[in-house]
Amino acid sequence: MAAVYNFDEVIDRRHEPYSYSAKWNASPATAEHCGVRQITDEHLALFTADMDFRCAEPIIEALHKTVDHGIFGYSTLDGNVRYFRAIRDWFATRDGWDIDMDRVVYAPGTVSALNKIVQTFTKPGDSVIVQTPVYPPFFSAVTNNGRTVANNHLVADENLHYTIDFENFEKLAAQKRTTMFILCNPHNPVGRVWTPEELQRLADICARHRVLIVADEIHGDLVRRGQHMHHMAEVAPEARVITCTAINKTFNLAGLAATNLVFSSADDRDRYTAAVGHVSPSPFAISAVVAAYEEGEDWLEQCLDYLDGTIDAVMELFAAHLPEVRVCRPEGTYVMWFDFGPFCRRYGISPEDLHQRIYEEAKVLLQDGTHFDPDQGSYFQRMCVPSARSLVLEACMRIVRVLSR
Ligand SMILES: Cc1ncc(COP(=O)(O)O)c(C=O)c1O
Repeated sequence: MAAVYNFDEVIDRRHEPYSYSAKWNASPATAEHCGVRQITDEHLALFTADMDFRCAEPIIEALHKTVDHGIFGYSTLDGNVRYFRAIRDWFATRDGWDIDMDRVVYAPGTVSALNKIVQTFTKPGDSVIVQTPVYPPFFSAVTNNGRTVANNHLVADENLHYTIDFENFEKLAAQKRTTMFILCNPHNPVGRVWTPEELQRLADICARHRVLIVADEIHGDLVRRGQHMHHMAEVAPEARVITCTAINKTFNLAGLAATNLVFSSADDRDRYTAAVGHVSPSPFAISAVVAAYEEGEDWLEQCLDYLDGTIDAVMELFAAHLPEVRVCRPEGTYVMWFDFGPFCRRYGISPEDLHQRIYEEAKVLLQDGTHFDPDQGSYFQRMCVPSARSLVLEACMRIVRVLSR
């Protein structure tokens, strides 16, 4: 009989000595990152896109087998057809995206892959299109490598539903220096799952102006019921795309650094592998990828139901207690993007005061919107909700209390 998982369980990751959790770390450096004086035991951490759920049992069992082997030398994917087949079958079955197994390349994490891709496929001084508000390493992968961000700001309607400004996108793509576009799908933090029409339009513009598409789709398995994940490389098979996929977000395995890139072009694959040199995945990453994609679906289905329930509960709580705070139900991801602007302006609350009340008084660690949108994000906050629902709702009620005085 299939396992029934208990996502309500509150697991202490802050004090468990073998957890090493970045999210629940209370060091001065983490406090500084969150913009608080000190992280205490009372602080609830909802700032990192990292689940607090225990992993799927088949993945834990596979990792145990690797531990029990007792030797953790260099490992290889050469000739490991099972690994590549597990990835191919996962995306074919769930999303209808057919991957050529020969175009899949392991990378030790998505952010490091993004940096390497920028270094390999653009030149210093080139421009790379990103669409704010967006996951901050999209900017740093560009600017840390001496390239320039060409920002195509997403457009929000009154319900905080975001769409793409295609006219401006084309203007940026047409500039001589623009050689790459980093797509986020589903889009962290605004939660959009881009439609096939939107993806095709982006692909057409990029093809017209010879812009390489890098599609970060690592939240792609985390879509709400009724949504379907369309991959850029599936919608536009003729496009030049490097897709980032990962077990990271889907199965709560970020610590194993197992990203798999899918190249639409064999030349690009070869250029990339030559640029990174030898990369040896850990045996734990290999075991986890195979177990997750072969046997993790049952856990994921239960997890998706739980996330939907939590997101609905958060929406209801804010609608009931702070209706002026805008939040859009995300179509994908487990992050929620809040606009406290209308509420705060009405009551004369500055962005600094908002931060002080939530982070220091309510002791809830979110992520300030300016990280994702330096120009317009000052009244926005991102909340990650893949924790026990009781913990998430407690955090929300604390926020309500400090804003209702
Ligand atoms: C869109 C996106 N890309 C990449 C990452 C980080 O991935 P990795 O841990 O594989 O570097 C995150 C983490 O939140 C993310 O949201």
